[in-house]
Amino acid sequence: MDNAPKLEKLLEDALVSISSTTGLERLDKIRIGVLGKKGSLTAALRGMKDIAPKERPLFGKRVNEIRDAVTKAMDEKISALEEVAKKERLKQEHIDVTLPGTKHSIGGLHPLTQIYYETRDIFVSMGFEIMDGPEVEYDKYNFEMLNIPKDHPARDMQDTFYVTPDIVLRTHTSPVQIRTMLRKEPPIRVIAPGRVYRSDDVDSTHSPIFNQIEGLVVGKDISFANLKDTLNRFLKEFYGKDTKTKFRPGHFPFTEPSAEVDATCAKCGGSGCGVCKGTGMIEILGCGMVHPSVLAGCGIDPEVYTGFAFGMGLDRLATIKYGITDIRLLFENDIRFLSQFK
Ligand code: DAH
Repeated sequence: MDNAPKLEKLLEDALVSISSTTGLERLDKIRIGVLGKKGSLTAALRGMKDIAPKERPLFGKRVNEIRDAVTKAMDEKISALEEVAKKERLKQEHIDVTLPGTKHSIGGLHPLTQIYYETRDIFVSMGFEIMDGPEVEYDKYNFEMLNIPKDHPARDMQDTFYVTPDIVLRTHTSPVQIRTMLRKEPPIRVIAPGRVYRSDDVDSTHSPIFNQIEGLVVGKDISFANLKDTLNRFLKEFYGKDTKTKFRPGHFPFTEPSAEVDATCAKCGGSGCGVCKGTGMIEILGCGMVHPSVLAGCGIDPEVYTGFAFGMGLDRLATIKYGITDIRLLFENDIRFLSQFK
């Protein structure tokens, strides 16, 4: 049985290469090399015809045993290699649960939005509705119908961006008064928040874009006392119940009489500080009784109805409330600044 030693050598070689293999790919090559169509064991089997017939059964049996032995060794090796690979993977995917997690920071509302919501809620609680108006506005509504004709000096104070000779970026939210009165019958009780534009250079107290809130009340027997009461209530609610107010005579073309309102400085509580320039009071808003010709221009009979209006800078409400000395902070969107208001 000349072929027998060859067969045993084949088995030995196969087992040695299987056990020394460290990769699954290499193992597959070995399998093909031994058990494949052109493999060594298959070749040995083919050589059976050269063996004496009586020795063939024994030889065949041995070939089968060897095939089984090689297959078994392969399977064992595959399991072992897979085990090693799994351990390696687990090592890499290992999570240290004691490490601090990844922090996902949650956003917050911009301080101006918060201030607007507070203001809105106070006025809504007094029965006001919210009105909206366009930022690109007719000159007629922004100026003309508010008693500011083409040659009026108030136009210089609110120098604006003209889109066409008849269309401007609104310089204040007051044109929403006109839009409201043209659209609604009294009684009217609205506030109108929004962005306004003036051709101002940017500095710590000026910005070409800022925000205002307009207020308008029109009805029968609306008096200056109603105006004072409404604004006093708002300012006490907004800045605190100890807030004092001062109504100073002022001038606005669309109100008569007009007033400017100061309130106790929210920063120092009235003792005087850098924010209120030592006066203890700070100017907050402009207001007045709606001018009869403005009412009439909107088709509301000034003999029957009266009204009051007010306008205030939202940015100003915020800077005073928080003691912010530079309004640019409100527009720069620096997260270090904004995150203080969460
Ligand atoms: N529109 C004025 C401004 O921007 C503010 C203002 C003053 C509004 C008096 C009013 C008002 O409604 O009655 O300077």
